[in-house]
Amino acid sequence: MAKKTEERKDDHIDICLKEKVQARQVTTGFEEIHLLHKALPEINLDEVDLTGKIFGHKFEAPLIVEAITGGTRDGSKINAAIAKAVEDLGLGMGVGSQRSALEDPAVESTYAVTRKEAPNAFIMANIGAAQLAKGYGIKEATKAVEMLKADALAIHLNPLQEAIQPEGETTFANVMPVIETIVKKLNVPVIVKETGCGISASQARKLEALGIAGIDIAGAGGTSWAAVEYYRARRRRDEIRQRLGEDFWDWGIPTAASLVETTQVLHIPVIASGGLRSGIDLAKALALGASITGVAYPVLAPASLGAAETKKTLKLLLDELRTAMFLIGADSVQKLRRAPLIVTGKMADWLVMRGFEPQNYARRDL
Ligand SMILES: Cc1cc2nc3c(=O)[nH]c(=O)nc-3n(C[C@H](O)[C@H](O)[C@H](O)COP(=O)(O)O)c2cc1C
Repeated sequence: MAKKTEERKDDHIDICLKEKVQARQVTTGFEEIHLLHKALPEINLDEVDLTGKIFGHKFEAPLIVEAITGGTRDGSKINAAIAKAVEDLGLGMGVGSQRSALEDPAVESTYAVTRKEAPNAFIMANIGAAQLAKGYGIKEATKAVEMLKADALAIHLNPLQEAIQPEGETTFANVMPVIETIVKKLNVPVIVKETGCGISASQARKLEALGIAGIDIAGAGGTSWAAVEYYRARRRRDEIRQRLGEDFWDWGIPTAASLVETTQVLHIPVIASGGLRSGIDLAKALALGASITGVAYPVLAPASLGAAETKKTLKLLLDELRTAMFLIGADSVQKLRRAPLIVTGKMADWLVMRGFEPQNYARRDL
């Protein structure tokens, strides 16, 4: 069982590094969100402050590297590279699903390496909701957190991937009570995350009512798990699952829409992720109300090369974020979160259809 989980993880990394696994038709919607340029910003670029506090932890900038991997030798190297980079930059990271280490203690070190390389950074443990439906509970959640001395636990929701992959576990009924128990008994904050299909307002409300500390929307427009499973099916010559992967390739709530759906109704922090590819995307996500942002795919290739490359990629994102903030005259993340935004085209239509008022963003001022 554990061996199969490990092979699957290596397949995922290999496919994400070699094939085109990004959304094709659906976009994040950030291209329809416009920050209002200030010809005279009235602030100095080198005084733009990216720091902030979230989940009781101080961040040098509002960015985490999303859950990617663990459980294999390559996974260990990738985790170590990301950990070193986020430690140096004062950011945060999540490890990939720890199911393999919960099944096989021999691979614990491939996750624990993150705490070794990042003694101070914010690190999130990771387990899947599908496993919660099948009997995982507070015992496994506690073990996952202790393995990394994690600052938080992320519970991932991936019904699309489970529905497409041959070994998928599609039992998602009765997961909420298990999440609630974990929230009550675990001694670190619990975050619920999607994996590339977004979270709607009503689902976010239900999850907030369970007492979770934050939501990571991981919306559509970036990495597509249907695409990853399409390539796995193609390699196995499984025509049916290949077709499923192809048809659901662009399934999900676009990231910008999911951000409005969640930030407009929740009182807990929202992590914006899913297709964030530049510092300008980060700025737009924060202006839409996110408390912090996350990226996975952009870090994978650099992390497979090492910590220096990873750091370079993350620093570029932060330089772009700082530049965008300078150009709209926001010298702090708090000010950026109140910056005026113009929402156009399909994204404006989406928000109106769903009962949100896009013009409210445009009328804000710094
Ligand atoms: C290779 C790879 C492996 C991933 N594995 C996990 C995982 O084990 N657990 C999880 O919660 N999310 C996992 N994700 C999903 C990411 O954390 C993230 O939610 C998603 O990729 C969207 O972000 P992106 O568009 O920036 O890639 C993985 C993503 C990639 C690219």
